[in-house]
Amino acid sequence: MKTTLKISLAAVFAVASCWSTAQHVSSMRGSEVPATDKAPIEQPYLGSKPGAQKLIARTFQEQPPLIPHKVDGFDDINATDNTCLDCHINEVFRGQKVPRAGASHFLPTSTAAKPEFDMKRWQCNSCHVPQVDAKPLVENVFKGNVAQ
Ligand code: HEC
Ligand code: HEC
Repeated sequence: MKTTLKISLAAVFAVASCWSTAQHVSSMRGSEVPATDKAPIEQPYLGSKPGAQKLIARTFQEQPPLIPHKVDGFDDINATDNTCLDCHINEVFRGQKVPRAGASHFLPTSTAAKPEFDMKRWQCNSCHVPQVDAKPLVENVFKGNVAQ
């Protein structure tokens, strides 16, 4: 009795494994799974130079706000230079109003007169991202929820 059960189970597994290898595996990147990655199509960032854009509505609490302007020319952040901060460390840059980086980005000892930025937030673009007009890869039914 036991042997018959083992044999039939083995048969079921054999059929199942043949069936699964026969399925065509297609990847979202559009090429065969073992193929080398194609270079992604380069998309231009939306928006123009800072100062002309509306802010993008946030869709969840504690969301790092999305960057509404182009970042060409100042997204090259290195150990000593950070052009984002030229503008975002204050509320005004060259007479223009700028959204100042949140209080969470400054050290507790920081004052308005002598702002001390928290180096944990130095790499702005690990959290804040510029936008491109790209179609979602999969259907997305996410609805924001900040009205709390
Ligand atoms: C020349 C000044 C300037 C520079 C440089 C700059 N920004 Fe901005 N940024 C602005 C202004 C002004 C706005 C308000 C929107 C607008 O008018 O385009 C803004 C908006 C933003 C916002 C949206 C804030 C919110 O509350 O929704 C984020 C995030 C942001 N910038 C991040 C960055 C990052 C990251 C960099 C560097 C890659 C950068 N900015 C460089 C001036 C600047
Ligand atoms: C570790 C993630 C992280 C990094 C790195 C970071 N931010 Fe933010 N940022 C956030 C989050 C989250 C918020 C929204 C909540 C808050 O203000 O803390 C925010 C808010 C902001 C705002 C809007 C402030 C407001 O009061 O509405 C600006 C402007 C901004 N960041 C600019 C910057 C700039 C410029 C840098 C780099 C010098 C930077 N951030 C680095 C996560 C980050």
